[in-house]
Amino acid sequence: CFYDSVIRWGALSILLQFGLCVSGGSCPSRCVCRPETKEVICSGKHLNSFPEGFSSDVRCLDLSHNKIKTVGRRQFFSLSQLQELDLSDNIISMIEVEAFQGLQNLRLLRITNNRLKILPVGVFSGLSSLRFLDLRQNEILVFLDYTFKEMVNLQTLEAEENDLVFISQRAFFGLQNLQDLNIDRSNLTSVPTEALSQLQSLTHLRMLRLTISTLPTNAFRRLRCLRSLQISNWPALDTMASDSLIGLNLTSLVISGCNLSAIPYSAFRHLVYLRYLDLSYNPITVIQGNMFGDLLRLQELHLAGGSLLRIEPGAFRGLAYFRMLNVTSNQLSTLEESVFHSVGNLQVLRLDGNPLACDCRLIWVVRRRLRLNFDGHQPTCSSPDVVSQRKFRDFSEKEVPRLFTCRPARIMARRPQEARVEEGTTVRFSCKTDGDPLPSITWISSRKNVVSPTGRIRVLPNGTLEVRFAQVQDSGTYQCLAGNAAGNDSLTVGLYVKGLPRNRTILFFSEEGWTEPSNPQAANSSAQMAKPYPFDAKTLIIATTMGFLSFLSSVAICFVFMFFWSQSKGQIKHTATIDFVPRSSMGGGGDGGEGGRFTMKLI
Ligand SMILES: *[C@@H]1O[C@H](CO)[C@@H](O)[C@H](O)[C@H]1NC(C)=O
Ligand SMILES: *[C@@H]1O[C@H](CO)[C@@H](O)[C@H](O)[C@H]1NC(C)=O
Ligand SMILES: *[C@@H]1O[C@H](CO)[C@@H](O)[C@H](O)[C@H]1NC(C)=O
Ligand SMILES: *[C@@H]1O[C@H](CO)[C@@H](O)[C@H](O)[C@H]1NC(C)=O
Ligand SMILES: *[C@@H]1O[C@H](CO)[C@@H](O)[C@H](O)[C@H]1NC(C)=O
Ligand SMILES: *[C@@H]1O[C@H](CO)[C@@H](O)[C@H](O)[C@H]1NC(C)=O
Ligand SMILES: *[C@@H]1O[C@H](CO)[C@@H](O)[C@H](O)[C@H]1NC(C)=O
Ligand SMILES: *[C@@H]1O[C@H](CO)[C@@H](O)[C@H](O)[C@H]1NC(C)=O
Repeated sequence: CFYDSVIRWGALSILLQFGLCVSGGSCPSRCVCRPETKEVICSGKHLNSFPEGFSSDVRCLDLSHNKIKTVGRRQFFSLSQLQELDLSDNIISMIEVEAFQGLQNLRLLRITNNRLKILPVGVFSGLSSLRFLDLRQNEILVFLDYTFKEMVNLQTLEAEENDLVFISQRAFFGLQNLQDLNIDRSNLTSVPTEALSQLQSLTHLRMLRLTISTLPTNAFRRLRCLRSLQISNWPALDTMASDSLIGLNLTSLVISGCNLSAIPYSAFRHLVYLRYLDLSYNPITVIQGNMFGDLLRLQELHLAGGSLLRIEPGAFRGLAYFRMLNVTSNQLSTLEESVFHSVGNLQVLRLDGNPLACDCRLIWVVRRRLRLNFDGHQPTCSSPDVVSQRKFRDFSEKEVPRLFTCRPARIMARRPQEARVEEGTTVRFSCKTDGDPLPSITWISSRKNVVSPTGRIRVLPNGTLEVRFAQVQDSGTYQCLAGNAAGNDSLTVGLYVKGLPRNRTILFFSEEGWTEPSNPQAANSSAQMAKPYPFDAKTLIIATTMGFLSFLSSVAICFVFMFFWSQSKGQIKHTATIDFVPRSSMGGGGDGGEGGRFTMKLI
């Protein structure tokens, strides 16, 4: 250590003398020196190589916007006081190993916008005080193992806009204090999970413009300090494993500009400290009810530019601190008060850019239109026609109760519906409704279940209940419930299915199993009967048994007939005697045999 400082002192004094004697100052030609701040500015001077004649106490050196091509070994060895070095916007394609050796006080290094392709291991050796390293806009292909090994104090690494195809597993080894890592527009094909797991202090991770399609399980393991994760513009990302973010304790999460078609609720569930969530620019169509309940501290949700059609009631239930909802530029026709835990806490609401139906459901927004912060973008009515294109701000107090109205749901043509049909028939019950907004229709089966839009018993898109191939057990009452924001209505219908005697049953064996054509439609193997109902086992057994019974009775009748026939023939011979000539080799042919005669008893 002593030896080292002696050498350095020697070099320094030589330089000092050189500077004083030759140039009469300590400022390289073509550069601007500011002795008071110890800055040397050589930016934009068309320099092809490093200038000579620096004062050794330079703190900041700006060599940006020149034509420097390479950085040699120990290029800055004498500038031990240097704290900031800017090499941006040159044409550097090569930095030799140990180029920055001796810069033990350097805190900031910019090599932005150069032509680096490779960073040999050892390039950054000696930079033990470096806090900030900017490698943006180069053509770096890989980060090799141990590239940043000695940079124990590095806090920020900017690696955006390189051609990274690979980050080696131990590339970030030694970066024990790195807090911010930014990667952008690279050609990585998977999350460099192993490499990232070395960064125990990482708090902010931004990964932009990647072509990764999946976030696998445990993608960010061991990043216990990570608080903010930004994943943006991954156009291929359409899958997130439900435990892809496991182990993280985030306060801010951005997954925007990706291809997620649904909110991956289960992946977020454990993020109980999350305050900021941005899922903008994903083709998400719905925010479901009661799915964010675990994100107790969530304050802001951004889902701008998505494909949102609806936000279900209770979507933000349990979120007592929720204060900002940004759903600008979606396909929402409304936003009901019931989606929020408490509308009183809501401060900022971006609802513009949606085809809003201005009826009673939005009256809560209009009433708060002067208090709510619309971020400079007033919501605009899209329907009904009388208010089309009007901004919320422009409605007078008087108009609001008259214009923002709803008509409660009502079921039309309420004549009692009852159907008595035979088994196998297809029955439909209509439930025609009226109301504004258009009521939702739900059918409840006789067993108190909600009827789904698929299956043998289903609800058609127009609200009609359809029971195909009615069976006896389908009998009972069905209830149609129609409802909208203004009111509910219901209608009960009855279905009575009469069983048929199972005569002349014809069975068809199709790919799906035994099917019975109860009506002509079912016999048609068109798409209409894509789901033939399976033949029930009881019937099969009965049919089989009946078949056997008739077979047995036929046999019995046959025997009886033969018996009577034989009786009518009178005397029957009970023994038969057969003569034969035994060969000499076959002596003692049969037991009852005596000589050449064999007697057999007939039964
Ligand atoms: C990275 O991707 C870009 C665009 O897809 C492509 O032009 C470039 O050649 C790729 N680079 C490498 C090293 O694969
Ligand atoms: C996004 O997902 C859809 C299907 O969900 C697919 O058709 C489309 O190609 C995907 N886009 C990209 C860029 O991968
Ligand atoms: C998670 O982060 C929050 C806020 O940053 C912090 O208060 C909490 O202690 C962290 N929890 C764990 C388990 O690290
Ligand atoms: C809402 O989202 C849009 C689009 O991403 C953005 O421009 C705007 O700043 C956001 N508003 C707020 C208040 O954050
Ligand atoms: C509903 O649709 C079915 C079949 O698509 C049709 O038979 C029925 O008449 C429709 N009902 C009403 C009320 O429009
Ligand atoms: C309609 O029914 C739903 C569910 O049963 C209920 O929550 C709602 O309050 C009812 N609406 C009106 C206006 O009665
Ligand atoms: C058999 O069933 C058909 C209906 O499928 C009925 O019309 C017919 O009368 C029945 N025949 C006998 C003998 O019961
Ligand atoms: C059978 O299916 C064809 C089309 O595949 C259709 O034209 C015909 O009407 C169907 N017949 C019956 C009885 O449903």
